[in-house]
Amino acid sequence: MKKDLLTLQDITYDDLLEIFRRTKELKENRGNSDYKPLAGKSIGMIFAKSSTRTRVSFEVGVYELGGNPMYLDESRMQIGRGETVADTANVLSRYLHGIVIRTYSHEGVEELARVATIPVINALTDEYHPCQILADLYTILEYSGKIEGIKLVFYGDAQSNIANSLILAAKLTGLNLVFAAPEEFKPRADLIGDAKNITWESDPVKASEGADYMYSDVFVSMGFEDGREFRLEKLMPYQMTMDMIRVAKDNVKVLHCLPAHRGEEIAADVMDSEYSIVFDQAENRLHVQKAVLSLLVK
Ligand code: CP
Ligand code: NVA
Repeated sequence: MKKDLLTLQDITYDDLLEIFRRTKELKENRGNSDYKPLAGKSIGMIFAKSSTRTRVSFEVGVYELGGNPMYLDESRMQIGRGETVADTANVLSRYLHGIVIRTYSHEGVEELARVATIPVINALTDEYHPCQILADLYTILEYSGKIEGIKLVFYGDAQSNIANSLILAAKLTGLNLVFAAPEEFKPRADLIGDAKNITWESDPVKASEGADYMYSDVFVSMGFEDGREFRLEKLMPYQMTMDMIRVAKDNVKVLHCLPAHRGEEIAADVMDSEYSIVFDQAENRLHVQKAVLSLLVK
């Protein structure tokens, strides 16, 4: 039966280990590999929102695995003119071997996956961004040698797709996840459930004490621009600054899913500091997604 990756709930801890084993091999052998599991296969990549990293890393990844990546601008597809999600899923399943999709509605992606007979990979919805978080976890593993018990503090909009996916990641791995966020943007209790390793703290400096990793996402996610003023007013105190670095562990590392907005969710001196590993993190998108594609696309 085909498998999808819509959220981290679609994978078990064993799946995660397998993805990371494959990621390591693919990363080490990049450029001198004749491993082409996608030879003769086409992957449709539907984008309704902007992208730099996701689009490029998926296109390059599919190419490197021997497949044919097809970028599909959703506004130029008939779905943008009223064709149903189900009809689109049925038709694309007759041509393609996998679908990567970035759009607004998570429910829409669930429907696409339900009807499609080929694997569907979520490349970001309003609610979840699993590919990003897989790359983040892999980066932590590379730097720390483990994930369980590592303290990661996330600053800002604790209801963003990144934050929601981090919650699922912490439940899967035992990551010690602390959200530094105001009441208005505190993490979703329904997602956290009774997990003891996920906490919320409204004082960002206090939250940062002893942190191994500090992580931020934009204050205004794609599709949430209407609330920009309110968001900035509430979230600016949660900008990642040197004040937080000072109380974190000496060897703290700074993560950011990117794109970064220096002076909003991250101070410029933090973004450009020796603590920042954001480009290693971004690079890992490529390797992790190649692993996911090689495991899901048959
Ligand atoms: N982090 C991330 O998904 O970046 P893009 O929006 O550029 O794809
Ligand atoms: N939360 C951000 C992530 C960008 C990669 C957004 O949805 O815009």
